[in-house]
Amino acid sequence: MQQTVSIKVTPTSKSKIESVDWENLPFGKVFSDHMLVMDYKDGAWQEAEIVPFGPIEMHPAMSAIHYGQSIFEGMKANRTVDGDVVIFRPDMNAKRFIESCERMCMPTIPEDLFTELVRKLVEVEKDWIPSKEGYSLYIRPFLFATDEFIGIKPSETYRFMIFTCPVGAYYSEPVNVLIEEFYTRASEGGVGRAKVAGNYGASLFPARKGQARGYHQLLWTDGKTHSYVEESGTMNVCFVIDGKLVTPSEDSDTILRGVTKRSVVELAKHWGMPVEERKVTVAEIVEANKNGSLTEAFGAGTAATIAHIAKIGYRDTDLVLPSIESRDFSNKVHAYLDDMKAGKVEDPFGWILKV
Ligand code: COI
Repeated sequence: MQQTVSIKVTPTSKSKIESVDWENLPFGKVFSDHMLVMDYKDGAWQEAEIVPFGPIEMHPAMSAIHYGQSIFEGMKANRTVDGDVVIFRPDMNAKRFIESCERMCMPTIPEDLFTELVRKLVEVEKDWIPSKEGYSLYIRPFLFATDEFIGIKPSETYRFMIFTCPVGAYYSEPVNVLIEEFYTRASEGGVGRAKVAGNYGASLFPARKGQARGYHQLLWTDGKTHSYVEESGTMNVCFVIDGKLVTPSEDSDTILRGVTKRSVVELAKHWGMPVEERKVTVAEIVEANKNGSLTEAFGAGTAATIAHIAKIGYRDTDLVLPSIESRDFSNKVHAYLDDMKAGKVEDPFGWILKV
């Protein structure tokens, strides 16, 4: 059931849309004209408002800054070839947002309300959806604690916001990833499964060390033994080994439940490809590369979409993967997801929300 909410909209007096260079959109640096704001206080969500995009005021003791009660989501809107505005699987993000809220002691937003707030802002910002192929309107919902108090306890007040950015690809080329065997992104019982701001902050230092060695991202391994592959910096990770789609299962607390990755798994099954969601060892990836059975490796994420992995750094060597052109599955799944968002193929799964 779709929730209907009345949202006050205060339009901007001066749109920035004319100043956008639509041919050169860096990821996450161009912001559309409006944002949605909804506060939580006295144990209840207040009315949501859409207001001109701009800076927000904050108290120096605002608890999110000090103790990190801060979570976010990412999704995308596109315009189809028929001119419809669509959002890809926002219900999945809404569910994951609830999980993140619960893990961080934050008030949840009901799935229908979350989806409706996203839909409404996209409706207001629909002219900001880029028309160039492979481009989208990235949607960033986020929630942070706003108590003006420096004692440690869950905040009693919060602010939920959504803004949007017209974006191109997050990665403009196939990525090189480095298997990380010392630093840990997440450990069992931690917050790795939630989309918590601090997970990303904590990954910056190890990622910078990898970048200094020429890699775009790290390929994280489990915190206990560093022998199982988990996910990469901005995306989940998938492999094609012996014609099977192999990807780390999300049973543990340590892997983010990716919407794109779930869609990849569901499509592979739909197309009759064998899928193994299970623990994946570093040793088997090294061995599969050596014996030629590792034919594809890619990241899957909202921002990253399907990002081919060209090279996997392992200790002092590089596992070089087959050419991008030869990668039948990841090329097919990438094209299919793009086509679905562009309305060029049917959506038999009910993944597309028309705005
Ligand atoms: C996304 O794919 O939406 C993400 O949140 C990853 C990244 C931009 C932090």
